[in-house]
Amino acid sequence: MVDIGCGSGRFLIWHAKNSGKSQNYLGLEIRQKLVERAQFWVNELELMYVYFMFANATMSFEKIISSYPGPLSLVSILCPDPHFKKRHHKRRVLQQPLVDSIINNLCLGGQVYQFHSPSFVFLISKAWTRYFQML
Ligand SMILES: C[S@@+](CC[C@H](N)C(=O)[O-])C[C@H]1O[C@@H](n2cnc3c(N)ncnc32)[C@H](O)[C@@H]1O
Repeated sequence: MVDIGCGSGRFLIWHAKNSGKSQNYLGLEIRQKLVERAQFWVNELELMYVYFMFANATMSFEKIISSYPGPLSLVSILCPDPHFKKRHHKRRVLQQPLVDSIINNLCLGGQVYQFHSPSFVFLISKAWTRYFQML
């Protein structure tokens, strides 16, 4: 599982502890301080299958995930974009190349969890449209 823009990492740690699945969990976050703190927590909790990485997910997701030998079964993207004004669109995390890369790397039956503010849902839906049409 990969959590994009994982922030403090609380969701990923909670999910890893409660999902009951033995799989690897990776949090990608662009703010290094948050990554260091989340990694400190997983070390304290001895959750050896949870890892946090300092990365710009928009730019590096494909490279990171394509080098992972296991299947990608779940991607979560929770409140990634507070910028809903048009002039901020270029700063959005969820851009078309990232959506394409998620779809191309998900295993058969893989899932995407998304949570966005209502004002953002239309914009985000546009990025997924081509895949909805394929269903
Ligand atoms: C609104 S916060 C949500 C944090 C977390 N997902 C949650 O639900 O609590 C958005 C997070 O995405 C991170 N972020 C923004 N752009 C990013 C990018 N290109 N790559 C990785 N993380 C990014 C921000 O630093 C921030 O921690």
